[in-house]
Amino acid sequence: MRAWFRERYLDLLGSIYIYNEHRGYTAIEQLLAAVQTRWPDDHPLIAKIDKHRADERKHYMMFRRWFERRGVMPLAVDRTCGHIDRFVGIMFGQRIDDLDQATVVNDDRLFARLCRVISLTEQRGYRQIEVLLRNPHVRSDRMLTKIFRIIEQDEPSHWAPYDGWLEAHGQRNSKWWEQLIDSYIHSELLMLKLPVLLLSPRLRRRTRWADERDPRPVLAAAE
Ligand SMILES: [Fe+2]
Ligand SMILES: [Fe+2]
Repeated sequence: MRAWFRERYLDLLGSIYIYNEHRGYTAIEQLLAAVQTRWPDDHPLIAKIDKHRADERKHYMMFRRWFERRGVMPLAVDRTCGHIDRFVGIMFGQRIDDLDQATVVNDDRLFARLCRVISLTEQRGYRQIEVLLRNPHVRSDRMLTKIFRIIEQDEPSHWAPYDGWLEAHGQRNSKWWEQLIDSYIHSELLMLKLPVLLLSPRLRRRTRWADERDPRPVLAAAE
């Protein structure tokens, strides 16, 4: 029973992470294109967001290799397990895919809101990694522990560009109710969705890797 639980827990944890990493870098690609259009000469900001995009893609690939090593595909979790999907949905009343990033980036008030959403999501991610690195199931898997340690190191540079923009433009930092929404989404995932999915036998595996359908990056630096 204990062995079954460990396998299932790690399987699900990896599946939720690989979903979120893929969602992260694909959404940042759109954001980067919009930022490059609005501030073509702000090379430091563009470079920082591009680094963020590249890191999230690197994280995605690390989880992909982890699954390849296990010889299974990730479980097919969907956007209900995506922290940023839920956050954008609540804050903008739209799915990320439907969000017109150019309109958001061209409006200081909307861009500030998006910066706060990304920054809170990344800071939440950092705190969660610290918790996971103390988890005995995670620690029993050397490769997964190594992945989380790399993410832990990368994470602080992920909220920096957005916090930097907010500070430079005199937009105040996250509001109490935005922090409350962030906590709500996190507890909902942890207390409600995770236990349900753990015991859900009907949860199928993906049949294809998410990155197989990635559009070619338009403006991002080639890798
Ligand atoms: Fe990541
Ligand atoms: Fe991140």
